[in-house]
Amino acid sequence: MSRYVYVNGRHVPYGQAHVHAEDRGYQFGDAVYEVCEVKVTRLVDETRHLDRLDRSLGELSIAAPMSRASWQRVLREVIRRNRVRDGSLYIQVSRGARPREFLFAPAGTLTPTVVVIARAHNPAALDARAEQGIAIKTVPDTRWERCDIKTVMLLPSSLAKEAAKAEGAKEAWFVDTTGHVTEGASSNAWIVTANGRLVTRPAGHEILRGVTRMTLIDLLRREGLELEERAFTVAEAKAAREAFITSAGNIVMPVVRIDGVPIGNGAPGLLSLRLRAAFHDVAEHALS
Ligand code: PDD
Repeated sequence: MSRYVYVNGRHVPYGQAHVHAEDRGYQFGDAVYEVCEVKVTRLVDETRHLDRLDRSLGELSIAAPMSRASWQRVLREVIRRNRVRDGSLYIQVSRGARPREFLFAPAGTLTPTVVVIARAHNPAALDARAEQGIAIKTVPDTRWERCDIKTVMLLPSSLAKEAAKAEGAKEAWFVDTTGHVTEGASSNAWIVTANGRLVTRPAGHEILRGVTRMTLIDLLRREGLELEERAFTVAEAKAAREAFITSAGNIVMPVVRIDGVPIGNGAPGLLSLRLRAAFHDVAEHALS
């Protein structure tokens, strides 16, 4: 349970954590976010998350609400006040609040709205899920063309996850008009081909440049494993030896079924589980 939420410079009790009714994040989806893993009170890959937040803000010309040092102080304080040992931090920055108007507002006249929420998770539950693996449902990718910007415009992802849930799947994979997988509704998509090659889509505008994806690529280099950065089709994924998703918190989560078709022998892949086990050896663990 989150006890305090950081809202615009104050740590307020959860039940009193509000932003303005005319916040542009609420009216226009004019906001960006980050989700970071907290592991044993430390922020995992903080530098990469804050770098990506800066980039998302920059791409949308939203003013940086605070310095890097201030972000680091605020994030640590939110973890501390909520006594989170293992869990996640949710950071959201919107352009700010003003009477509803499509145009932004003259530069420098809006103060961005900042919210940070900490939440505890049970890491054992995620490990238990990884031992079972998850099912995927594929759905058409109906999102906009700048999925590299981590905006809160998440309705297509929410609808995709609902559709997946209706068929007993935990995650949806978006598929582009050429039949290639772009990414998961809230994760990046990977396969290990029948001849043992790791494949994931290049980080262009059609996918989010996942922090977990980047850190996993560091791990692959350390392990001397080659990666093919290219798009793969749904048919190739169904014929793969292994498949998995990556995202903050899920780390490497094995995929055992895609649209009802078992992947490999239908159990989590050995390479997927090995990468999951080694992930935190290479990730950054920021001191609190
Ligand atoms: N989602 N692709 C999409 C569309 C995502 O929403 C996410 C993360 C990722 C993986 O990124 P990272 O490895 O940096 O978590 C890829 C977060 C977890 C969410 O929306 O809850």
